[in-house]
Amino acid sequence: MYRIVLKETLATAVVKMTVEAPYVARKAKAGQFIILRVHENSERIPLTIADYNREDGLITIIYQVVGKATMDLNNLEEGDFIHDFVGPLGKPSEIEHLKKAIVVGGGVGCAIAYPVVKALAEQNTEVFSVVGFRNKDLVILEEEFASHSDKMVLMSDDGSYGTKGFVTTGLETLLEEHKDIDCVFAIGPIIMMKNVSAVTKKYGVKTVVSMNSIMIDGTGMCGGCRLTVGGETKFACVDGPEFDGHLVDFDEAQSRNNIFKNQPVHNLEEDKD
Ligand code: FES
Repeated sequence: MYRIVLKETLATAVVKMTVEAPYVARKAKAGQFIILRVHENSERIPLTIADYNREDGLITIIYQVVGKATMDLNNLEEGDFIHDFVGPLGKPSEIEHLKKAIVVGGGVGCAIAYPVVKALAEQNTEVFSVVGFRNKDLVILEEEFASHSDKMVLMSDDGSYGTKGFVTTGLETLLEEHKDIDCVFAIGPIIMMKNVSAVTKKYGVKTVVSMNSIMIDGTGMCGGCRLTVGGETKFACVDGPEFDGHLVDFDEAQSRNNIFKNQPVHNLEEDKD
């Protein structure tokens, strides 16, 4: 059993939870995920690790309340226990040897983008962040991104906070200013990752996208996270969740995602550009 030590609402229906899980915290790396079950017979919920503290044995997750499984999770409070909390799973982000990188986060996807920024900063990579939200009320982790980035650009679709526009605008400005970017990481809605990959292709910059949002149960058995990468069939939960953004068939992923959208477990999806 895994005790919840902190629960905090970050934005409308977006909640941060910190859980005592020392074995997971000991090995966790940016880009990996956990699978939890609220009760013995609950559905499995795969959630990317948003932060970890090895010394205190803590793992932070951020989830959007979108279905029964996440509602059950959200009914737990500080001091309550989660039945299973398995991880770390999936391949860690490949960040070694990067001198200069840009991390693009969209909406709740910023929960997954933040540990990548933090890990890059900790290894002294020069890192720029571009984070985008529909409006001011949906902004999350602003301080965290700002404190670990050499520069942070905050965009909002409606201009109610930061700069008006989509993340692709902020990204393109940075790519014009810095011709020596080694890698761009893009994490957010499928349409956002597709558009970011189109921009970086133009500039010839390697791009990594996280297909976490299409995972259903994270076990490799449901088939829900199947996608095509460079003409080959892959599974986000087994082969990823990170893939080369220039090789992913985003249109297929989007149409499959629409089919699975109404499945009970679907945690980090928000359609925005
Ligand atoms: Fe079920 Fe990957 S999430 S196979």
